[in-house]
Amino acid sequence: MGGKYVTETLRADAVGLARAAGILREGGLVAVPTETVYGLAARADSDEAVARIYAAKGRPSFNPLIVHVASLDQARGLAEFSAAAERLAGEHWPGPLTLVLPRRRKAGLATAVTAGLDTVALRMPAHPLMQRLLQEVGLALAAPSANRSGFISPTTAAHVLASLDGRIDAVLEGGECERGLESTIAAVRADGSIDLLRPGPIALEAEAGDGEHIEAPGQLASHYAPGKPVRLDATQVAPDDFMIGFGAIVGDCTLSTRGDLAEAAARLYACLHEGARSEKPRIAVAPIPDEGIGIAINDRLRRAATPPG
Ligand code: TXA
Ligand code: MG
Repeated sequence: MGGKYVTETLRADAVGLARAAGILREGGLVAVPTETVYGLAARADSDEAVARIYAAKGRPSFNPLIVHVASLDQARGLAEFSAAAERLAGEHWPGPLTLVLPRRRKAGLATAVTAGLDTVALRMPAHPLMQRLLQEVGLALAAPSANRSGFISPTTAAHVLASLDGRIDAVLEGGECERGLESTIAAVRADGSIDLLRPGPIALEAEAGDGEHIEAPGQLASHYAPGKPVRLDATQVAPDDFMIGFGAIVGDCTLSTRGDLAEAAARLYACLHEGARSEKPRIAVAPIPDEGIGIAINDRLRRAATPPG
């Protein structure tokens, strides 16, 4: 895409992992598979490396990044874990839960990672390849989703290349992401209370207080935008619609024929990518039940349907 890099595709073997780790240690950018979406990783302790993430994505600098760790001990060196944080990490790590916690002053993180906040967002991913990479690099890795800012998140290496080819050093091929939606983000406050900042695969709605007005700072109203109008809760297909179906409503791409919300979550971004590429000028999406992971699916769909700017 006219960038200054020749982007390498690395295989999911020892050679690919060693190459990915080497690029990251030298301050380069590698797109990596996780169980949620592909992330665009750089070493979290380097200002130059982290600046490259923002440049490659075209990401506004007020939007902080999630730091990925190999172990709970590594996480404890970066943030202060209250009893409530220990409990959540114990229950859900490794997995698709990001915890926003008070940052340690001597954490050694690049300033841009936290965008100047005194909290840091931490996650221990469950994807086996990402776990091996984190162990091999031996460094915490900052990683936002591996897409141009505002566009559809990637759940395959091909999705990553569709928006970042030529702008990053490499992509580590790890197949399709199992969950398909970004992690749940929860902030654990000093008094032990929990604020849900972003709905995701881990349902914390019941634990979180009435934090509906609270959001992660980078959660813009328009996001995941396919570049054409998106109509939600569609039960009728117009001729110029690329239809995304669910359950009994069959589409050009169907999220889950058997009406399974986990399957729908895993396929959501692939269907949006397909709709974006299609010749049809508009996208319509069937109604998705607003329960369980359906809450996170509808959150992403509302943002995809909001026009940019
Ligand atoms: O599943 C995921 O979370 C993926 C994979 C790659 O780990 N990552 C991801 O990153 O979704 P990104 O950058 O697309 O979304 C991170 C969100 C942003 O909305 C950002 O504002 C929020 O996390 N965030 C980061 N640090 C924060 C902090 N200290 N306080 C509040 N929100 C924070
Ligand atoms: Mg993102």
